[in-house]
Amino acid sequence: MNLILVGFMASGKSSIGKRLARRLGYRFVDTDQLIESEIGCSVAEIFSIQGEAYFRELETRLLRNLPNLQNYLIATGGGLITTAGNMDLLKKIGVVIFLNAERSEIIERLQRDTRRPMVQGGDLEQRVDDLLGARLPLYSEADIVVDTGGKTVNQTASEVLKHVAGYSGGRGNPPLQAQS
Ligand code: S3P
Repeated sequence: MNLILVGFMASGKSSIGKRLARRLGYRFVDTDQLIESEIGCSVAEIFSIQGEAYFRELETRLLRNLPNLQNYLIATGGGLITTAGNMDLLKKIGVVIFLNAERSEIIERLQRDTRRPMVQGGDLEQRVDDLLGARLPLYSEADIVVDTGGKTVNQTASEVLKHVAGYSGGRGNPPLQAQS
């Protein structure tokens, strides 16, 4: 079984994903990093040279071309689910978990960000509100929703594992073997 994290920029997908991977003995991968190593430049460079639409094509191509993975924890870029059909592709690859961070935490973490093209320039709060408004219904199509507000990385990881244990049993998967 694979686990897939979706959620807004700066919602903790990488830190929580790495913790989950360690506790489960899974491999951790990140769709942004896979794209960067395939193309040979950073996400910011891809956006500035080729534009967002091209980056979205790379995301979908990556999902379509993933080999048959087993026991992977996959963290996804925050906008990956905005492309129609990508959520369905993710659900074929694994159990999809939406990490639902609080607006205030997101804004605080993005305040000093310089590498995410979607939130550079302009009014950060307005940008986050616009994107969150458009994306929340899409993230909410995940198999499992976990609120991260006020929780440590480890507490959130434990909550994800609890939900997945209940969920995966129902799908006929073997029980999760996690360490605390
Ligand atoms: C994006 C989120 C980023 C990255 C790109 C676009 C978005 O990933 O894929 O900058 O549209 O929300 P993170 O969610 O890991 O920051």
